Order: sequence, then structure tokens, then C-alpha cells
Amino acid sequence: MTMPLAQDAAVMTPAPDPLGLGALLALFVVGGAVTLAWARWVRPMNLAIGFATTVAMWTLSFIAMLQPGQAAGEVLFAGAVACVLAGGFVAGRMAPGAANGLSVGLVSATVNLLVIGAFLRDEQGGGGLYRPAMYVLGLFAVSALLGLVGDAIGRARTSVRRLPAAPTLMGIVAVANILVMIVIGGLVTGYEAGLAVPDWPNSFGHNMLLYPISEMKGGIFYEHAHRLFGMLVGTTVLAFVACSWRLGGAARALSLVLLALVIVQGTLGGLRVTGNLTASMDSRDLSPSTALAIVHGMLGQVVFGVALLATFAASGVWDSVRGRAASGAIRMLPTAALAALVCQLFLGASMRHLQSTPTADAGAKIPAWALHGHVTMALVAFIVVFIAGMRCGRLTDIRPVRALGKALMHSVSLQLLLGIAALVAVLLRRGESVPWWEASSTTAHQALGAVLLASALALTALAWRASSPVTR
Ligand code: HEM
Repeated sequence: MTMPLAQDAAVMTPAPDPLGLGALLALFVVGGAVTLAWARWVRPMNLAIGFATTVAMWTLSFIAMLQPGQAAGEVLFAGAVACVLAGGFVAGRMAPGAANGLSVGLVSATVNLLVIGAFLRDEQGGGGLYRPAMYVLGLFAVSALLGLVGDAIGRARTSVRRLPAAPTLMGIVAVANILVMIVIGGLVTGYEAGLAVPDWPNSFGHNMLLYPISEMKGGIFYEHAHRLFGMLVGTTVLAFVACSWRLGGAARALSLVLLALVIVQGTLGGLRVTGNLTASMDSRDLSPSTALAIVHGMLGQVVFGVALLATFAASGVWDSVRGRAASGAIRMLPTAALAALVCQLFLGASMRHLQSTPTADAGAKIPAWALHGHVTMALVAFIVVFIAGMRCGRLTDIRPVRALGKALMHSVSLQLLLGIAALVAVLLRRGESVPWWEASSTTAHQALGAVLLASALALTALAWRASSPVTR
């Protein structure tokens, strides 16, 4: 199976939407403020389960839209709808008293308003306000019903299981959501679809929340889905800030840092496409930036790491490890591992974005400094990360530090193998069409790289915290 190139998919350019750039920006600001207010009003546990449900729904729908086959697609779409049922079930079974399925269903429906516009502007449209109203009412009614039914099934079970506290669960949802975002971003780069949608924050002149689903094909689908998931990440992180706010201290501070980074990351993603602040689709006004593509790719992994650290803070781990290490020696190796991974990330992102597209007779050309640097640094990073992981995994009794150490040790070995597979796939390709095995291997390598960087970042921060004295 080969993926149609972005250019193949850029078939029709619809007429520009009357809702312009200013209106869209106002929508972002007002939407953000409303989300925050609303998140403070809903019970935190309902919020966390509702967001978990919605992120799972979107992820399954994204896979279904990759057209894995008629039957698999139907099953995945059914699975996406069943997520709300599962959310209600979890609310009933695992968080009785603190959550209820109806509210979980309503949270999910509210977040899903972000994508409902894509269905409203399809060719079959028309009907004035009637059709949008029916869609929105239907969304809320079905979600509420599924949440209620799930809750009733969950409550019928006698044994009760416990979930982590709401801020921790919300942090886990944000971490999972950002990881999915990193995978989708990797596919955008992997399928060379970064410029499939020429303008930003509009998409082909449309308000991006109203861009019709029927036009999301080929490269446009990957790029536009990445943008929509970006909105979901932003909303999830806002809800995380709302949940962490009352905890104060590091949890509040880190969730705010995360929010700021997500805003910067989204803006960089847009500027990578347009090169400057313009809503124009005219190529004379646009100057896409490869340098920003590299920065955006790198910052995405840092955002993921900060989300993990903020979740540790929300769960109380950040406070509990303080002063528990006997000496400062524990922090040197993780710090070295983090530094090696950041260098490796820069070289990898440069390799990815600076390589030329293969022709029918010649493979991709990669700048020698990036290729040789990435391969050489891979060995250095492997050794340093493995040793850091092993020492932290074995030589301390601080549980999160041990767990992160072990995770690093195992994933760096797998990453070496994935790196070899990705490089072979890139060098083997001939022609412009990107084969699925190339995009999958480079994306898997990039996503595991993000897991490594995030683990190293969290490990380093916790190791410094553990070896800092407790002051009274
Ligand atoms: C929290 C939000 C976001 C995260 C975590 C994120 C993450 C990523 C990652 C990891 C990649 C792959 C980079 C690589 O392969 O080196 C990527 C690619 C990309 N992202 Fe994002 N992204 C976010 C938001 C956005 C937004 C809002 C846009 C708006 C247009 C955007 C546009 C792009 C583009 C165009 C690419 C492909 C770059 C290329 O291949 O040239 N991203 N993103």
C-alpha cells in the first residue's frame, strides 16, 4: 500500500470561508476561557474520565479514517462510540460517588463539539440552522444515554476498583493525548504532508473547525487531523490546569508551563506552514520554514516530557521524593543521558527534515553531518542512557526513579533496532510515493524517541529533587 502524496490530494480549493482569521483567533480565546470556567464547574473526576473517553474516541476514529478495510473501519467506528459506554462504566464501577456516567457523557459531547463542524459543512448541507441543531442535540442525547447505560452496568458489579485521584488521571490523559499527537505529527512528516494545507489557522480559507470531512483526503487528512488533535491537546491541558490549580505548588506551576508550551508549539506548527502571520493562501505571501519544522518536531517531545513531569507533580511524587537520595551522585548520569538525547533529537529532526525526496533512480539524499552525526551519537546515547537507566533502576529505593530507570534501559535498546529499521526504509525507497512501511518505521522511531526523552527529563528532574536537601 502506498500513500497518495499531499499534492495528489489537494484537489479542490473551496471558496474562502467568511469567518476570517480574527474571528477564529477570538474563538480560540473565548473557547479557552469558557473551557476553563466550565472545567472548574464540572466535578474533576467526571472531567478526567470524560476527557479520557474522548481522547480514546478520537484516536480510534483517526485509525478508522486511515481506511484499514471496510470491516475493520466499521469495528473501529463502533469502538469509538462504545468509548462513551466504557467511560460511563468506569465512572460507575471505579469512581462511584465521585463520578457519574451522565456527566461523563456530557463532558465527552462538549469536547466533541470541536469536530462536529466538520460534518456540518459537507456537500449534503443546507437546511439553515435546523441541521446543526439536530447534530448537536443528537450528539448530546446519544452521549448522555451511553454514559448513563455504562454507569448502570458498572454499578451492577459488586467489587469496586479505585482510580488515581482526578488531577493525576487528568495528567495521564494529557500525556496520552500528547503521545497520540506526536504519532500523528510523525505521520504528517513521514508522509511528507507538512504543507498539504497551505494556510493557517484557516484550512483552505475555512475556519478550521468547519473544514468539511469529505475533503480531508490523503496528505490533507494527516495535516488537518493533526491540527484538530492540536485543539484537543489544548483543551485537555486547559482541563488539567483547572484540575491541578487547587493543588498549588509544583503541580499548578508545571501545568501552567505545559499550557504555555502547548500554545507556543501550536503557533510554531502554524508558522512552519505559513512562515509569517498571514491568513493568505497565495504562495507569494507564504514562506514555509524548514528550520521551524525542526524546532516544532523537537519541542513536541519536550512538551510530552513536561506533561509527564507535571503529572508526577499532580500525583504527589514530586513532593514525596524530596531529600530521599543519600548523595548527589544519583543525578549526574540522568543529566548526561538527557543531554545526549537532546543532541540526538536535534540530529534526528535535522536528518528527517533536510533529506531530499527520492527520485525513480536515486534514494533520498541526507546531509552527511546529520546522517553521520545521528548514527555516531546513537551509540553514545545508547551507552549513556543504558547505564543511567540501569543505575537508577537498581541502585535506589525511590520507586518512581527506579521505574523510570528501568523504562529507559529497555526502551533505549528497542530504539536502536527501530532506528536501524527506519534508516534502511528511508534509504531503500525509490520514487516520490511514500510506502506505508517507511512512514510507520520512521514514526515509530520518532515516537519511542519521545518516550525516551520524556522519561529522561522526568528522571533527571526527580533525581535532582531527590538529592536536594529538605529545608524547614
Ligand atoms: C500540542 C500541539 C502539537 C504537538 C505536540 C505537535 C507535535 C508534532 C510532532 C512531534 C511532529 C513531527 C515532527 C517530526 O517529524 O520531526 C509534528 C509535525 C508537524 N506539525 Fe505539529 N504538533 C502540535 C501542534 C501543531 C499545530 C497546531 C500545527 C498547525 C499547523 C502543527 C503543524 C505541524 C506540521 C505542519 C508538521 C509537519 C512538519 C513537516 O513535516 O514539515 N502542529 N508536530
